[in-house]
Amino acid sequence: MQILEQVRALREAVGAWRRGGERIAFVPTMGNLHAGHYSLIALARRHADRVVASVFVNPTQFGPNEDFARYPRTPREDAAGLESAGCDLMFCPTVAEMYPLGHDRCVQVRVPGLTEELDGAARPGHFDGVATVVLRLFHMVQPDVAVFGRKDFQQLRVIEYLVRDLALPLEIVPAPIARDPDGLALSSRNRYLGEEERARAPALHRTLVAMREGWREGRAIPSIQDEALASLRAAGFVPDYAEIRRSADLARPAGTCDEILIALVAARLGSTRLIDNLPFV
Ligand code: PAF
Repeated sequence: MQILEQVRALREAVGAWRRGGERIAFVPTMGNLHAGHYSLIALARRHADRVVASVFVNPTQFGPNEDFARYPRTPREDAAGLESAGCDLMFCPTVAEMYPLGHDRCVQVRVPGLTEELDGAARPGHFDGVATVVLRLFHMVQPDVAVFGRKDFQQLRVIEYLVRDLALPLEIVPAPIARDPDGLALSSRNRYLGEEERARAPALHRTLVAMREGWREGRAIPSIQDEALASLRAAGFVPDYAEIRRSADLARPAGTCDEILIALVAARLGSTRLIDNLPFV
């Protein structure tokens, strides 16, 4: 596996593959990789001849009081894991390489509407930072296909919007959520959880399952959401939201029978903010 920090070297490597007629898949990450990320690499492999993964903790998607500084950085372990997972190239640029004019002075991308709700409301500017860095990465790597996990479901919809609106010539492949046996979705932030918090954390997934059960029983959505918030509080979480939305665009359900719905939750356990979701299919 090649490990490259510079855009120029990345372009040369990917350009050579492309000239040889090979198809390129891309998996963007912020590193501190776990089994969930490696499942994205495996999925990427099924869609292309070559897999590029980026490892970059993106400063523009963290708010001033968020965990940018303490976000776990484990480049050596990430490189070893990516290599065993079958990745061909790990791209790990510095902040200066990604944002040559300064990350506080960079050209920004903003996806309207969708980014102001849910996690966008709880983390103002977060999705602008995500869209900004992902568009840059797409320009740098120029993949045929890019894989995004369904755990960050709103992020997936933001990226799909970006690709569609800017007619970017690539396909987005959503990857299923990887979970621990007790239901907790795998996340780099799970490492922040103390023993007692880790024991409480699966209540997040149980709440989603209860929301889906409530909906299947025909209960009213507002009361399902209220009950979900109450059960998260009872389990020791401080919830940001527990919502049932339309899966296609994350709008509030209109009540038509062709809608596919999804439950989404975000809640803090101590100082750790966790998110999860469950489609109603
Ligand atoms: O999902 C993530 O890890 C990040 O938001 C991403 C897509 C790599 C952009 O920094």
